[in-house]
Amino acid sequence: MIIAPLAPSDFEGAVERLAAILQACVSEGSSIGFILPFSLDEARAYWRDKVAPPHTAGSRLVLVATIDGEVVGTAQLDLDGMPSKRHHAEVSKVLVDPRHRRSGLGRALMAEIERLAAEAGRWLLTLDTAGDAAETLYRSLGYEVAGTIPLYARDAFEADRYDATRLMYKDLRSG
Ligand SMILES: CC(C)(COP(=O)(O)OP(=O)(O)OC[C@H]1O[C@@H](n2cnc3c(N)ncnc32)[C@H](O)[C@@H]1OP(=O)(O)O)[C@@H](O)C(=O)NCCC(=O)NCCS
Repeated sequence: MIIAPLAPSDFEGAVERLAAILQACVSEGSSIGFILPFSLDEARAYWRDKVAPPHTAGSRLVLVATIDGEVVGTAQLDLDGMPSKRHHAEVSKVLVDPRHRRSGLGRALMAEIERLAAEAGRWLLTLDTAGDAAETLYRSLGYEVAGTIPLYARDAFEADRYDATRLMYKDLRSG
């Protein structure tokens, strides 16, 4: 397994796998910003329209985990922020291909996210999550729950259901 930041020049070549992983995660009901039905075209559009611009501009890091050259996981770190928030970054879209779960990829992606955040001088990390697996992962890494927002996002499957999200944070200086 190799975990590395995706270079802007490699972005387009990774879009198909990134879209497939995103679609797989949404299809299983993960609350990651999308609702079903969710097509591969919509997944590709997310990567190209929402992620590529800040990635190219250098305000967002995109990590990819590869096994034998195939992208099997990803995570993002948003470094954009106001002048008073330059110690802060937002973690998002930690996604692991369902075929490769529970083999340490999520933990390894987060370790690299934290290493790169610290290298960039960002010692306060925040994220929000609605999934039990993800929350367990983040708690195991020392993330604290700041609070819960009810009715935060529409459920991926049910149109009239809104799910809560947990806001979490970690001060990297405290280890
Ligand atoms: C959350 C996610 C990224 C975890 O990826 P993963 O590669 O399977 O995680 P790891 O193998 O590194 O697991 C690390 C730890 O997280 C916890 N964990 C992971 N999946 C879990 C699950 N299904 N149930 C309970 N705990 C889980 C465990 O503590 C695990 O340690 P252990 O295997 O030694 O018990 C993955 O389940 C995923 O992609 N989910 C869908 C997308 C999503 O919700 N992402 C989070 C957005 S905020």
